[in-house]
Amino acid sequence: MNNIKEEFISTLSHEIRTPLTSIKGFSKTMLDNWDSLDDEQKKKFLNIMVCQSQRLINLVENVLNVSKIDSGANDTVLTKVDVINAINSAIAMVKMNYPDIDFEFSIYSKEPVLADFNKFQQVLINLFDNAAKYTKNSKKVQISLKNNKNNAIITVKNFGISIDEKYFNAIFEKFFRIDTYLKSTAQGSGLGLYITKNLLELMGGRIEVKSGDSPKYCEFTIYLPLYEVENATKSALRFHN
Ligand SMILES: Nc1ncnc2c1ncn2[C@@H]1O[C@H](COP(=O)(O)OP(=O)(O)OP(=O)(O)O)[C@@H](O)[C@H]1O
Ligand SMILES: [Mg+2]
Repeated sequence: MNNIKEEFISTLSHEIRTPLTSIKGFSKTMLDNWDSLDDEQKKKFLNIMVCQSQRLINLVENVLNVSKIDSGANDTVLTKVDVINAINSAIAMVKMNYPDIDFEFSIYSKEPVLADFNKFQQVLINLFDNAAKYTKNSKKVQISLKNNKNNAIITVKNFGISIDEKYFNAIFEKFFRIDTYLKSTAQGSGLGLYITKNLLELMGGRIEVKSGDSPKYCEFTIYLPLYEVENATKSALRFHN
């Protein structure tokens, strides 16, 4: 237990220090060289500061979510959520950190879901962040939205890297990160997928992973109950009682 806590604090400190150091560095450089920097350079530095702040915000959201999940608290508020809107807004947030990544969004369904807007947003941000972060020789992330009879189905696919089947369960555990060279180049605390899986389950959804080697890709698929179906079930139950 103590080991886990120590590891948590040490990863977290690192995760906090990196963006903070960068924010401090760039703001100090701007202050010290204000007159010699042109507008273009100032804009570039401010952009980096915005990205790094966004990274800190995501991290704080994740840590808060972990402590809520682990305490068993359930503050889920289910409402009718427009999936296209939620996906577009999550893409916009993640794009700030990965301006070079091209997010392709294919829409085959317009059905709303019954979900907790904030939790759904956090799920999408974690999945899009992973897809943009764990990619090699590819600048593309493919997102698709369709539905079956009961669920909205969202897939997130990235290229150039694969996940060995033996890790398909472990990646959803708290703090687990696959030990590849990417572990040191791509920052992370191993919380994203643990939170994603738990938040989805709180909303009556689930997540699946697929991966292949020729060509290399990873694909995460989430299922969330459609609003109309859930509503119809509720009315039917009311009618019966
Ligand atoms: N889209 C993906 N492509 C390839 N590997 C992935 C992908 N998503 C997750 N992984 C692997 O699963 C591990 C766990 O992912 P998870 O999102 O939980 O943690 P993280 O990204 O390392 O850290 P955090 O999300 O807390 O910043 C990652 O470290 C990575 O090895
Ligand atoms: Mg992650």
